Amino acid sequence: LGPTETNMSTPAESPMTDTPRPIVGVFDSGFGGLTVLRALLSTITGAHFVYIGDTARLPYGAKSRATVARYAVESARLLESRGAQLLVIACNTATALALDDIRSAVRVTVVGVIAPGALATAEAIATSYPGLTNPDVLVLATAATVQSHAYHAACAALDMSATEMACPLLVPLVEEGWTDHPVTRDVIRIYLREAFAECTPRGVLLGCTHYPLIHAAIESEVRGLYSHAVVVDSAQATADAVARTVATMPLIHQLTSSPSTFECFATDSVEKFQRLGSHFLDRSISTVHLLDLGG
Ligand code: DGL
Repeated sequence: LGPTETNMSTPAESPMTDTPRPIVGVFDSGFGGLTVLRALLSTITGAHFVYIGDTARLPYGAKSRATVARYAVESARLLESRGAQLLVIACNTATALALDDIRSAVRVTVVGVIAPGALATAEAIATSYPGLTNPDVLVLATAATVQSHAYHAACAALDMSATEMACPLLVPLVEEGWTDHPVTRDVIRIYLREAFAECTPRGVLLGCTHYPLIHAAIESEVRGLYSHAVVVDSAQATADAVARTVATMPLIHQLTSSPSTFECFATDSVEKFQRLGSHFLDRSISTVHLLDLGG
């Protein structure tokens, strides 16, 4: 099947199964949330994931709280109306700025990426530095996420001190495919040097869905600064949190052990979504549906 144009009210491509599967909605501003979908697909069986990437309105990371909340609520409502029994906000910026708005706008359970990422960082630091109290965590994220201080609050709730660093150049570099490029390494080094002048972190938390693709580059630059800080991204941590949430829901009884399926919707070029998205998902995406959310 090639790219198709549709809207959410018409039936989209269905999973090839005999029995209907529970639907889990996954939402991101674009491609980055596919790193979370990748972890979800390898962690949860028997579900059908419906992914919306709001690529027409990307990036969210430079937008205001009101705008991000309006966009995110729109997609969340759409996913709920399409039968999602659980929503995963696979976008740090949308989670940071709009989680409460989304939770008030829908009836289904909503899981964001920030609390799981902070928890995974606390666990990783506790493993690497047993007995250490109130460790410093360096959070790398978009400007909007940093301004919200959502990570500061999530880390404080786990007795960690957060230094938040906006890294606005990293999203475009990753989208350019420059994940292992000297320019990207230089940019990472400049951000890290600036941050390390302010703190001595025991953990570096990748607070943006694009950063798992440059995890290795960030880790190597952290080591270049003679730091043993653990570098943590929230994709797997979020999938684990979703699995724990699902285990408490009636939904768990409908999940079979067969591999989960997925379908993708994008609000801009489906070709670009297929091309770039396959790097984030680490597998090819045969079909992407174009979704008109009204610009
Ligand atoms: N998905 C966003 C995040 O995780 C990054 C891309 C954007 O700015 O929209 O913060």
